[in-house]
Formats: sequence, structure tokens, C-alpha cells
Amino acid sequence: MTQEPDRYAVMGNPIAHSQSPRIHALFAAQTSQPLEYRALLVEPGQFATAARTFQDAGGRGLNVTVPFKPDAWVFADLLSARAERAGAVNTLIFEAGGVRGDNTDGPGLVRDLCGNHGYKLAGRRILLLGAGGAARGILQPLLAEQPAQLVIANRTAGKALELALRFNDLGRVSSCGFAELAGRQFDLILNATAAGLDDVAPPVPDGVLAAEGWCYDLMYGHEPTAFVRWGWEQGAAQSLDGLGMLVEQAAESFHLWRGVWPETRSVIAALRSG
Ligand code: ATR
Repeated sequence: MTQEPDRYAVMGNPIAHSQSPRIHALFAAQTSQPLEYRALLVEPGQFATAARTFQDAGGRGLNVTVPFKPDAWVFADLLSARAERAGAVNTLIFEAGGVRGDNTDGPGLVRDLCGNHGYKLAGRRILLLGAGGAARGILQPLLAEQPAQLVIANRTAGKALELALRFNDLGRVSSCGFAELAGRQFDLILNATAAGLDDVAPPVPDGVLAAEGWCYDLMYGHEPTAFVRWGWEQGAAQSLDGLGMLVEQAAESFHLWRGVWPETRSVIAALRSG
């Protein structure tokens, strides 16, 4: 008798273009884990109902993407410290004792930058562009690496200030608007804005990237994103998109569910080649 595979899914809206089913199928094949993983479209306001239905039908865990990460945060019975801070959950683990919520976005970013690309965050001057959910989700894991300073810049400067105040017990965090960046310099610029959806880079003044500085866009696309292109124009030593982060956050989720680390380089390469 063949064993039924354990069931996992990603919930979001939209969800049709999610790469997560492909990533987790590659992880499962590679590690011989008996699981199936699907993409489920959920209507606005219906997250809790959909998640409960999936759990009641025997589902073992969920990934959660836009716009439901805050709903998943509310849904979880028990939160990891990083998810608690992020105010957002991208991984739910259904256990006998309750639903655990975690956020693997920040660790995924750090694993890609530091593990795959050999970057050292300690002692660096970091500029984080954006103050929405994506920015908030990565702040604690970034600060845990002990950068020299982290400046959050946002179109709406008040939101950057709010975020800085929320995290400044964890390290040297400050905030400003984009125009105030002129004349300052950073070793690493991370783009966590949604500007890329319109194929534009956020309006960062020229000269803000230090010599040998790196750029990293949390978004990715088949073509280099507007921010990745901007990084090259500014003379970046590296200008990376978020495909590696996507695969690494998935690997963190897979490990939380299965207790096994999948190998990620071949999966990143597979996705990169289409
Ligand atoms: P996400 O979950 O992707 O972070 P969000 O919470 O809606 O989405 O946040 C979007 C972020 O992108 C915000 O920081 C937003 O700036 P505002 O707070 O000023 O709205 C930023 N953003 C969106 N479009 C932008 C653009 N064209 N230029 C610069 N920043 C932009």
C-alpha cells in the first residue's frame, strides 16, 4: 500500500504565477519526502476559513503570501519571535497542540545574501528602501547580523519613522525620506518597495551607493528588475534580484515542516533557466 502524501499549500491572491509549488516539488523529489504542495486562490476576507478548512481536511502546513500574511499572523496560536515582530506570517505549521506561525522571509534573505553570495552584513551601513510589509518582515533577521547602521527610507517618511521606532531596540535603526539620502553613503541598498510593479526604481539620489557597494531587490523577474538595473548604473559590485531569497525562504519553510534541509542552488538554477 502506498502512503498518502502529506498535504501543503500556498494561499494568496493572486496565486496563479506562484513558483512555490514548483520549488517544493523539487525539494520533495530531492529529499524523498512524501508530500504534495498546491497553490490555492483565496478570496479577500476568507483566509481564516480557507486555512481552517485546509487544516480540517488533514493539511500539515501552509505558506501564505500577499495579501494574507497579517491574517495568518492573527490565525496562528503560537508565533516565533521573528514572526511576532514582523506582524506577518508566511509559514503555518499545523500541529496537534495548535497552529504555529513563523516568518521565513528575513532568514531567506540573509541565507541568500550571506550563504549563497558570501556577503557579510556585520559592520555594514545598510539602506532599506520601503516601510511596508516586505520591509517589516526582514528587519529583525537583518539586525541580528549586527550591521553598523540601518536606515529605512520611504516615500512616506512617517511610515519609515514608525518602523524605525518599532525596531530600534534591536540595533542602530533610523529613518528618513528619499531626498534626505543625498550626500550619505551605504554599503548595501535593499529594495523592499513595491515600485518595481511599475518597472521603476525608487527615487534614490545618485552617489548613495558606496564604492564596492551591493544592491539587492526583494522582487525578481525574468528580466533584471528596474532596481537591479539602477544598481548596475550606480556602479554596484553586485546587483541581485530576489529569486534566491524566494527559494531560501521556501527552504526554511520546508525545514520547519519536514526537519530536513533541501539543497537550494540547483533549484535556484532551475528557476533561473525558466
Ligand atoms: P509590501 O507588502 O510589498 O511591502 P505595502 O505594505 O503596500 O506592500 O508597501 C509598499 C511599499 O512600497 C511602501 O513602502 C510604499 O511607500 P509608501 O509607504 O509611501 O506608500 C512603497 N512604494 C510603492 N510604490 C512606490 C514607488 N513608486 N516609489 C517608491 N516607493 C513606493
